[in-house]
Amino acid sequence: MRKTLLVANWKMNGSLDLLSQMHEALLAKSYSGVGIAICPPFIFLPQTQNLFKDSQIAYGAQDVSDQDNGAYTGQISAKMLSQLACDYVIIGHSERRQYCGETDKIIAAKCQRALDAGLVPILCVGENATQKQNGETEAIVLSQVRSVVDSLTTEQLEKLVIAYEPIWAIGTGLAANPLDANKVHELIRKASLQTTRILYGGSANAENIREFLMQPNIDGALIGGAALKPEVFVQMINISEALCTKVY
Ligand code: 13P
Repeated sequence: MRKTLLVANWKMNGSLDLLSQMHEALLAKSYSGVGIAICPPFIFLPQTQNLFKDSQIAYGAQDVSDQDNGAYTGQISAKMLSQLACDYVIIGHSERRQYCGETDKIIAAKCQRALDAGLVPILCVGENATQKQNGETEAIVLSQVRSVVDSLTTEQLEKLVIAYEPIWAIGTGLAANPLDANKVHELIRKASLQTTRILYGGSANAENIREFLMQPNIDGALIGGAALKPEVFVQMINISEALCTKVY
C-alpha cells in the first residue's frame, strides 16, 4: 500500500510567523488518507518540532551532510536531525546539484547517512530542459535513481521516497503533463520497488494536483511555491484526501 504523501519544501523561504500560520491552518482539521510533511529551513526545525510534535504532521530538513561528524563548518548531520525527531530529509534537490555541486556519489552518501540515523530520505531526480529536448529524460533519471538505489539494501530501499522533479517545471508555472510524468514514474518504479512512494514536483498547485494524483504511479507531491501559502497547501491536502489511497 502506498499512502499518498504531500511534502512542503519551503526552500530558503518562510519565517517563524509563517510556521505559526501553517500550524494553525493544518491543525484546524484531522487527516486520514494523506501523509503530510513540512520541510522548512534548518533554523526553524526546533520550532517546527515544538509546534508539530504531537500532531499528524511530519517534518524534515531540506539537506543533510554526507559526513557523520567532524570539521565540516556549516553542515548538519543526520544524527542532529534525528535529535530533533525529524521524519524526512530532502536529498539531491536539483538546486543543490546545481548551486552546491552535489554529485550522485555525494547524494548516495547522504541517503546512507539519513537511513542510518532513522530518517526517510526523499531523493530528488529530474532532467533539465536541454536534456528533455535531447530525449535524455529516461537515461538521466534512471542513472540518478540507480546511483542511490543500487547501493541500498532491500530493507533500506523500502524506506526511500523518490521525487521526480523535472528542472524545467520547478518554479516556472509550467508543470509537466501528468501523463508524461506518470511514464517517468513508471520507469523509476521499475528501478526501485512496487511499494516505493514516488512524488511529483514542479509547479504543483491546487489546480493540477488532482490530475497528478490520479495517475497510477504518482503517489504524492513535493511542493515548493504553493506550499508557502497555508490556504493553498490545505486546499491541496483536501483535494488529495478526497482521492482514494492507492492500494497495490
Ligand atoms: P515549485 O512547486 O515552486 O515549482 O517547486 C518545486 C520544488 O522544487 C519542490 O522541491
